Amino acid sequence: MFGASLEHNCIYDPLMREELEQIQEAGLAELASLTSGEDLERWRVAYLGSKGRLKAVMGGMKDVPKAEKPAVGQLVNAVKQALESAFEAKQASGAASSGDRLLLDMTEPGIVESHAIGRQHIITRVRDELVDVFGRMGFDVAHGPELEDDEHNFVNLNIPPEHPAREPIDNFYVDDPMTTERPRMLRTQTSTVQIRTMVDAAKKGWGPPMKIVSPGRVYRPDTVDATHSFMFHQIEGLYIDRGVSMIDLKSTLMQFARAFFSEDAEVRLRPSFFPFTEPSAEFDMMIALKPDEPAKWIELGGCGMVDPSVLEACGIDAEEWTGFAFGFGIERIAMGKYGVPDIRMLYENDLRFLEQI
Ligand code: DAH
Repeated sequence: MFGASLEHNCIYDPLMREELEQIQEAGLAELASLTSGEDLERWRVAYLGSKGRLKAVMGGMKDVPKAEKPAVGQLVNAVKQALESAFEAKQASGAASSGDRLLLDMTEPGIVESHAIGRQHIITRVRDELVDVFGRMGFDVAHGPELEDDEHNFVNLNIPPEHPAREPIDNFYVDDPMTTERPRMLRTQTSTVQIRTMVDAAKKGWGPPMKIVSPGRVYRPDTVDATHSFMFHQIEGLYIDRGVSMIDLKSTLMQFARAFFSEDAEVRLRPSFFPFTEPSAEFDMMIALKPDEPAKWIELGGCGMVDPSVLEACGIDAEEWTGFAFGFGIERIAMGKYGVPDIRMLYENDLRFLEQI
C-alpha cells in the first residue's frame, strides 16, 4: 500500500510502521462509509486534527535515531497525504453532506419560533381604559389641537398676562409672545379642551349640560428625570350642569378610582389653587410605585369647581350652571397602576420592560 521507496527502507520501529499502516487503512475505510457533513468533520478531527491519531504518531519522531528520521518522516508524510487527499476528494464529491441537506416540503406547517405578537403601548392602553371607565360614567370624548394659542392655554383659563406660568422659559412658544398678539404654542395642559368645548357648546347651542373627558399630549420644557418629561399625557374632565357640586366631583373621582384601580382604592382631595377652579384641590391616591416599598400618597392631578368667570368667558351663564373639572397625568396613573418607578421607562421602548406590563 505504501510507496515503493518506503517499502525498502529500514524503519526504526516496526511497530510504528504497523501503526501508520493501520491508521491509513482504517482511516480510508471509515471515510468511505461516511454520509454526513458532521461525521466528515468528526473524522477529520480524529485523524488529521491537532490531537488526532496521526499527530500522536508524529509525537514519537523524537525517539527515532537520526539516521532513520528521513525514512520515517517520509512514511508519516505519505500517510498524511493519502488521508488528506482522500478527505478532500470526499468533501468535493458532496457525498458526505447529502444527508444534511434541507429538503423543503412546502406542505409541512412552519416551525414557530416565537408566539409574540405586537400589542398597544402601555400609555395607549391606559388612555383607552380611562376613556372606557369615564365613558361608563357618562363622559363623552372631546379632542383639541396640540398646537394651541395663548387664549385657550392661558387667557380663558384665568391665567393673566403677568402670571409666571406664561414665562417663555416654561413654554414651547411657536410665535414670540412679546411681539405677537395671540402667540401660538404647544399646549401645556389639556384644560384647553374645556375651553374649546364650552365655547363651542355655547355658540352652537348643544350644551350645557355637558360631560366630557379629553385625553392627549401636553408639552413643557422640563428637564427629564424619573418624574418629568418634556412631553407627557393628560386626561381632562369637565362636567357642567345645573346644581353640580363638590360632592359630585368627589364621588365621581372615588368611583373612577374604584373602577380603574381597585375596590379598596384610597383617595384624598387636598386643598390647592388653580386659576380656573374655585375651590381647587389636588387628587392623591395611596400607591406603591415599587413592589418592595410601602404605599404612599401620590398626586395624580388637580381638580375643582369651574370658576364662574371661566364659565362666563366661554359664554355660559354662571348663575344657572355650575360644573367641576379635573386634569390627571396619564403617565402617573399608568405608573401607579403597574408599579413603574421611573417615567423614562415608559418612553424607552425596551421590550424587556414592555413585555411585563
Ligand atoms: N391643568 C392642570 C395642570 O396641568 C390640571 C388641572 C387642575 C386640570 C385643575 C383641571 C383642574 O381641570 O380643574 O396642572
